[in-house]
Amino acid sequence: MSYSPVTETPPKPSHPRNTWSPTDPMDQVDLGSIDFIPPGEGRAYTFGRKTIAVFRQRDGRLFATDDMCPHKAGPLADGLVGSGKVICPLHMWKIDLETGRCLGENGAVRTYPVRAVNGRILVTLTA
Ligand code: FES
Repeated sequence: MSYSPVTETPPKPSHPRNTWSPTDPMDQVDLGSIDFIPPGEGRAYTFGRKTIAVFRQRDGRLFATDDMCPHKAGPLADGLVGSGKVICPLHMWKIDLETGRCLGENGAVRTYPVRAVNGRILVTLTA
């Protein structure tokens, strides 16, 4: 797996395989310590040509989406996070992090199941 963080250097994932394929139907990836994402912020993780954004709300909830705004490809991981939404940093579109739908606009981003287990972020990258 080609793993290169976009914003900072997180711990190396402990995923047992060294490749990830979008054709793999259920692939859970360990993204490292939850402490890498400050509460109320997001971080981007890149796997080959795919980049996902993981958001950690102040209430502890985690969300994961593609890191590309459906409007003009803004970096969602750099957006403002709260109340189950992220606001894109480029033109302020609001995106519901549960559904991936844009609020008040046409468009959506893909979402991924994500959870914290023993302080580690586990995301399931579905095909
Ligand atoms: S790129 Fe996100 S709102 Fe325009």
